[in-house]
Amino acid sequence: MARGWFTLETELMLRYAVIGRPIAHSRSPDIHRAFAEQTGKALHYDRIEGSAEHFEQDVRRFFATGGSGLNVTLPFKERARAMADRVSVRAKVAGAANTLGMQGHDLWADNTDGIGLVRDLMDNLGRVLVGARVLMLGAGGAARGVVQPLAQAGVAALHIANRTEARARHLVEDLVGACPGMSLQHHAWQALDWLAPFDVVINATSTAVGGELPKLPTGLFASDGLAYDMGYGSEPTPFLRVAAEIGAVRLADGLGMLVEQAAAAFELWHDVRPDTKPVIDTLRA
Ligand code: ATR
Repeated sequence: MARGWFTLETELMLRYAVIGRPIAHSRSPDIHRAFAEQTGKALHYDRIEGSAEHFEQDVRRFFATGGSGLNVTLPFKERARAMADRVSVRAKVAGAANTLGMQGHDLWADNTDGIGLVRDLMDNLGRVLVGARVLMLGAGGAARGVVQPLAQAGVAALHIANRTEARARHLVEDLVGACPGMSLQHHAWQALDWLAPFDVVINATSTAVGGELPKLPTGLFASDGLAYDMGYGSEPTPFLRVAAEIGAVRLADGLGMLVEQAAAAFELWHDVRPDTKPVIDTLRA
């Protein structure tokens, strides 16, 4: 009897999920369940292993069978944006979406990665971004998603250095028009020597999950400069290790950004802003 009631109750719950490949280690279910508990929402949040062959069909089936919202992670963010009927300005500029939902018969797509980074930097780490000089390492999808939100937060100058400089040049050409008021420039890695120092250096390369960065010069960081890795892991990332060696005294990984982007997605779906601090603290512990 009790079991029957439980089944009925869970069937009536709103369903959410994160889709990506690989997905087994995603922390999103823990984060969204914690937010749901905090805000008194009854919901299910699962992991879905995405497939390169039928990602779009899987997304459509999820919503057709009563799903309420999807988070999208690597490597499907561009495809999520491309398949949506309505795309937010920030997802258009990012060229990618991490949050999907339905309004009527329309699939909408948004991108909360950039606001997640900005909130972590400003609210959790106490960084003043207005007027800041920021260096970003990397020019792939992760970098693209955060450029315009950094401009909107008041960053004065964003310098982008990438191992393959042509890719950084394309990124700047694509996004410069979307970032009025911010100086946006690309550089070869070797130019970092004479561009330093920076208030914040953000690692947006994929090296947190394996791989060493090319050399970084001493003097890269201003005296109170922050080294921020958009990646995270149980150990300090290769970038954070190198940053400490060359004198950065303030170091942060991307766990706070992960929780903040989830909070912004949660707010889009549920119209309530969860408290991120206890969730960040729990994940760190
Ligand atoms: P993501 O979506 O995570 O950004 P991506 O689009 O494949 O993934 O981009 C990976 C980024 O990490 C690129 O900027 C890549 O540099 P290249 O454009 O030169 O390939 C960067 N990257 C990956 N491994 C790197 C390494 N060992 N050193 C420096 N940059 C690296």
